[in-house]
Amino acid sequence: MQTLALANQKGGCGKTTVAINLASALAARGERVLLIDLDPQAHASLGLGQADFDGSSIADVLSRDVPITRVARKLPYGFQLVPGSLRVGEFEEVAARMLGPERVLEKALEEVEGLFDWVILDCPTRADGLLAANAIRAASLVVLVVETGAFALQGAVRAQKLFIDLARECEREIDLCVLATLFDPTRALAREILIGMHARFGDAMFDTVIHVSDVAREATAYGMPVDALAPTALVSRQFAALAAEFSDLNDQRESEGRATPLSWPQPEIV
Ligand SMILES: Nc1ncnc2c1ncn2[C@@H]1O[C@H](COP(=O)(O)OP(=O)(O)OP(=O)(O)O)[C@@H](O)[C@H]1O
Ligand SMILES: [Mg+2]
Repeated sequence: MQTLALANQKGGCGKTTVAINLASALAARGERVLLIDLDPQAHASLGLGQADFDGSSIADVLSRDVPITRVARKLPYGFQLVPGSLRVGEFEEVAARMLGPERVLEKALEEVEGLFDWVILDCPTRADGLLAANAIRAASLVVLVVETGAFALQGAVRAQKLFIDLARECEREIDLCVLATLFDPTRALAREILIGMHARFGDAMFDTVIHVSDVAREATAYGMPVDALAPTALVSRQFAALAAEFSDLNDQRESEGRATPLSWPQPEIV
């Protein structure tokens, strides 16, 4: 089971959109996928038409020790979702009385080991809180989701350093890779930024780049993944290609017996 934390300390860079559509694209390949909505905004749940905030959620797993299998919902898109909730904020209070509060998610996931091939954690924007610490602690791979806009490279390098520091605090060696999103190929600046990101992050970058797409926006508004709304759209094909890259990466990691880090340059402060 691979656990991916989709993260960045920058808001609105496409983390949730990638979480939803990567989950769906991996499921379309026959993989068993669990998406966990760790964000108090619960956008991944809303973006999948799961907006009933009275139901059980990740808050019950973290604060009340409810097993993940009792909270996970089967969606019509071939994968399961642990919904998010504003109540996840309670976890910070409960955690004050806990030993090792940053390990709660990791422990909860032990119970589903073997039931899923992929667990995808949609992280909140806030990267220095307890939820992010739980995600980093539980993750086998951190996927830094980077919007290819102005200052993208500087932001990505800072985020890289931040997650390496966070992992160090959790006493973990971090594996980190970078995914470029919201790419507009008609803009020279975006093309230059993408070249700069490849130069900086090298092999740690996915070949697939997710473009800006009206279909992506519409699918979120309709509460479904892009491949359910428009399976032949460019963005659906990009998520399918991304899922194939993750499968390849997984095969490679398994054959290496994991855990040699991806080739990853040392962070510099910029
Ligand atoms: N590839 C895309 N094409 C067009 N719009 C997109 C794309 N990816 C994301 N968006 C839009 O950009 C906005 C932010 O995306 P999203 O919610 O996925 O980002 P986020 O990083 O999860 O944000 P937050 O930090 O608030 O959790 C949303 O309105 C979403 O519909
Ligand atoms: Mg989000």
